Formats: sequence, C-alpha cells, structure tokens
Amino acid sequence: MAITDFDRYPLTFGPSPVHPLENLTKHLGGAAIWAKREDVSSGLAFGGNKTRKLEYIVPDVIASGADTLVSIGGVQSNHTRQVAAVAAKLGLKCRLVQERWVEWDDPVNDKVGNLLLSRIMGADSRLDPAGFDIGIRDSWEDALREVEESGGTPYGIPAGASEHPLGGLGFASWAYEVAEQERGLGVFFDTIVVCTVTGSTHAGMIAGFAALEDAGGRPRRVIGIDASATIEKTRDQVARIARHTAALIGLERELRDDEILVLEGWAGDLYGIPVASTIDAILTSGRTEAMIIDPVYEGKSMAGLIDLVRSGDIPRDSTVLYAHLGGQPALNAYSGVFPWS
Ligand SMILES: Cc1ncc(COP(=O)(O)O)c(C=O)c1O
Repeated sequence: MAITDFDRYPLTFGPSPVHPLENLTKHLGGAAIWAKREDVSSGLAFGGNKTRKLEYIVPDVIASGADTLVSIGGVQSNHTRQVAAVAAKLGLKCRLVQERWVEWDDPVNDKVGNLLLSRIMGADSRLDPAGFDIGIRDSWEDALREVEESGGTPYGIPAGASEHPLGGLGFASWAYEVAEQERGLGVFFDTIVVCTVTGSTHAGMIAGFAALEDAGGRPRRVIGIDASATIEKTRDQVARIARHTAALIGLERELRDDEILVLEGWAGDLYGIPVASTIDAILTSGRTEAMIIDPVYEGKSMAGLIDLVRSGDIPRDSTVLYAHLGGQPALNAYSGVFPWS
C-alpha cells in the first residue's frame, strides 16, 4: 500500500504553513532556517502534531463503533488535549489518564493549560500518580476496562498515539506534503529538525522521506532531538515505528540504521524540566520571530537546532526545516522558569 491508499479523516485546515525564519537565520549567521507549523494548522483546540496523527486513526475509530476515546499522557499532555478535541468534534466521550510524568511543583500545573482545555471540551480527565514512561501503561489499560465495565465501548489511543499501528502515518504523509511545498516554493530542505519523545512523529517522517528518496528524491537528514531524557527507549521506539510505518507505506527495503538519527544533549536530566538552553531557545524564538515554543518539547528541539547551526554540524549552506509541533498551552504551567519571575 502507498500512503495515499489510507483513509484520512480531515481534522486540519489543509497543508500546514511553511515559511522562512529570516530573523532567526540572521541572528545565527548560518544555515537558512524555515518552519513548518503544526501549531497553526487546525481549528481544534490549537492543534499540534497529534491532530495530524489522529487524521489516520479516526477512520478506524469510526469503523470500530466506539463511543469513548481513552488515552494517556502527562498532566500537561498536548496529546490528551488533542484527543479530547477530536472526541468533542466527533461527538464521542473521552476518558483521559494524566500521569505525574513531571515532578513539577508549579501551583497551577494541574489547573491550567492543556488540562484546563481538555476539561472545557468535556473530557473525564483524571490524575494518576505514576511517573514518566512512554510505553503501554497499566493505568491506561485499567481505564479501558473501566469504560467497558460501565457499559461503554472504548477505543484506546496510547501515549502520543505512537504505539498505535497507524500512529506513524500522519507524519509519513507530512513528508509528501513537504515535497509538494518544496516544488511550489522552489526550495529543498536538506535537513529536517524535529522534537522526539514517544517517537511516531519522527518515525513517520523517516519512513516518508525514505519512500520519497527511493522514488528518486534527493537524500536529506531527518534529525530527531530527544526531549524524553530516556534516549535509548526513544531511539528504540523511533526505529521500531519507522520500520513498521515504512513497511505499511510500501517501502521495499529495510531502513538503514543511519537513517534513524536521534540526538541527545538538550533534554536535560528529566523529561518535562526545562534547562538553560531551553529557556534561551524560547526567548530567542520569541524575540526574533514572535514564534512561541514550549518548555517541554519545542524549546528543546529549538535549542538543538541553534547549537547544531552554531557548531557548523548543520553547514552554513544548508536549508533547514524546523518542524513546529505545537504545545504552547503548557507554557501556562511554567511561568516560574523565566528570568523575570
Ligand atoms: C509539542 C510536542 N512536540 C513534540 C512531541 C513529540 O512527538 P512524539 O511523541 O511523536 O515523539 C510532542 C508529543 O509528545 C508534543 O506534544
């Protein structure tokens, strides 16, 4: 099967915008930097990367006859907020498990941002004391059972939609969308920079760009910047999902290890805790481009991009596409990390 053979339920406005970051490019004095904006690509509760993944999962939800979406993430999960949005839009119920993935004592952490938005959209969003783990969780399986026992028909969506068999398709199709936009703009992005945690965003891109390259496209580097701080787990998960997604979309070879590039160095010691480079990246992005990024994900991938450009690892003659995957609502729970507070 090819990517175009899969059903896609539209949840976005269409292709996400691509635009140059001229001020940031000038500020860094290096490679030409552009952004592709998943944060402004949907009208559903601020969108983000999960909305695009869910476009390929919703047809299966509808076919299953489920009446309740059941998902899981941290307290300030962007993913669970997007599942809540899709449930509201489809007229389904939504049960969310919000684990304590981050030891974060901001007094409003469990009241504002993503959690507030999910509850506004009608989700039954319950806190759970378990810590960070990107795998399949007992608390999620318990929630699925509870929905069933109370007479509902649940449809499970694991953390980040990554362990879902169709979870990589959204960003495999993103790669094709990029290729189409490149043709229109007369530009070629030799380097893609993307934040990776549960893995299927980066994995989908790897599969999609590999298929494009095998069809005669130019090679490029798809750099995942780890924000999980559990690099081995994330790297394994990216590799597994990339290989699975590549097979789904008809790639006729195994992905090579060198195509799976997850870099560490910007996550800090713990998932969800910003470090100095994260805050610098947020301020740089805000002050040069008025492009708002968050302290859990995009602040870390932007910190990676900035360092890779400054060090010359991304050469000066490169044209780089920064994948902005959304996530700004979590900023509300992190006001205390900024220098003026
Ligand atoms: C804003 C944002 N950026 C990046 C990611 C990482 O994506 P993935 O979990 O598919 O690796 C996530 C979700 O985990 C996210 O919400």
